[in-house]
Amino acid sequence: MKALFSALRYALAHTMSRLATTLCGVSLRNPLIAAAGTAGYGPEIAEVIPASRFGAITTKSITPESRAGNVPWRVTDLPGGMLNAIGLANLGLERFLAETLPELETIDTVMIGSIAGHTIEDYVEVAAAFGEPSAAALELVELNVSCPNTASGRQFGDDPSLLAEVVAATRSALGSKPMLVKLSPWSADLSGLALAAVRAGADGLTISNTVPAMAIDPDTRRSRIGRASGGLSGPAIHPIAVKVLHDVRARLIEEQCLVPLVGLGGVLSWVDAAEFTLVGATGIGLGTALFIDPRAPRKIERGLDAWVRRQGAAGIQDLVGAFEA
Ligand SMILES: Cc1cc2nc3c(=O)[nH]c(=O)nc-3n(C[C@H](O)[C@H](O)[C@H](O)COP(=O)(O)O)c2cc1C
Repeated sequence: MKALFSALRYALAHTMSRLATTLCGVSLRNPLIAAAGTAGYGPEIAEVIPASRFGAITTKSITPESRAGNVPWRVTDLPGGMLNAIGLANLGLERFLAETLPELETIDTVMIGSIAGHTIEDYVEVAAAFGEPSAAALELVELNVSCPNTASGRQFGDDPSLLAEVVAATRSALGSKPMLVKLSPWSADLSGLALAAVRAGADGLTISNTVPAMAIDPDTRRSRIGRASGGLSGPAIHPIAVKVLHDVRARLIEEQCLVPLVGLGGVLSWVDAAEFTLVGATGIGLGTALFIDPRAPRKIERGLDAWVRRQGAAGIQDLVGAFEA
């Protein structure tokens, strides 16, 4: 029995080391990252899926004020994925710091704090708190810039100068903690936005958020969710996210400012995850998959490990960007 356990431990250690990676200077035991808004604040998912299955877990997006979110229904399933309009429901910064942050210290993986807001001051306020030594449980932060700016009505992530402004302001409020900027795939010039974010101080980019979408019930003639439109996630958006990440990376290389990338959108299997790796993702986000199958992270981890071994690579990092056109 003891020999069996040590053989298992040995196999596990090797699995972990083949998938070990580094994202913006932070060591991850594997590239799998629970996506913002799909894992609660962290403790919720960790009660269902061992946190050690993930390289990192991202919190819900936190705003300065608490938000009840949109009217129901806020989520509906569609043949190719899920449509949601949650509306940034969250506890607000003060309660997050007092009630949730202490719990994050005990979670056995890297925690990423997601920041959202409707003004630049909102982002700065949350970033300043996340940059404090008391928030050491958050090793990385991620900026959700798919939020409308109350001043202009435009999303922060839609306009390169507004994006640069929010990223630079957040960067200086945050101090030295590594910062990912999460982009929407819905833009005519995503590479231009990515460049603006990197030049303004993003240490890495998460590509991408949901795709704006609608679903209508023909009998009621109303939206199938409480809002007229929402964000599509899941398998339908995966090939789009792969293409967008590939193109953004090519542009960043051309401009000599490549930063680590997190591929996010529709990963349900190791094959989807491997595609992101090949087009250049260091981290691989899982969102909708966590609603479908709590064993998804484990299955993907095993599948990726076997793939890295079959490829004859020492580790997954050697396969990042190894796509051959
Ligand atoms: C129910 C739900 C809530 C979400 N909430 C957030 C959020 O608070 N902040 C954020 O940046 N993204 C949020 N997202 C987007 C996800 O983090 C992710 O970008 C998207 O679901 C695409 O990945 P997937 O296809 O693997 O689900 C949410 C997605 C869903 C489905």
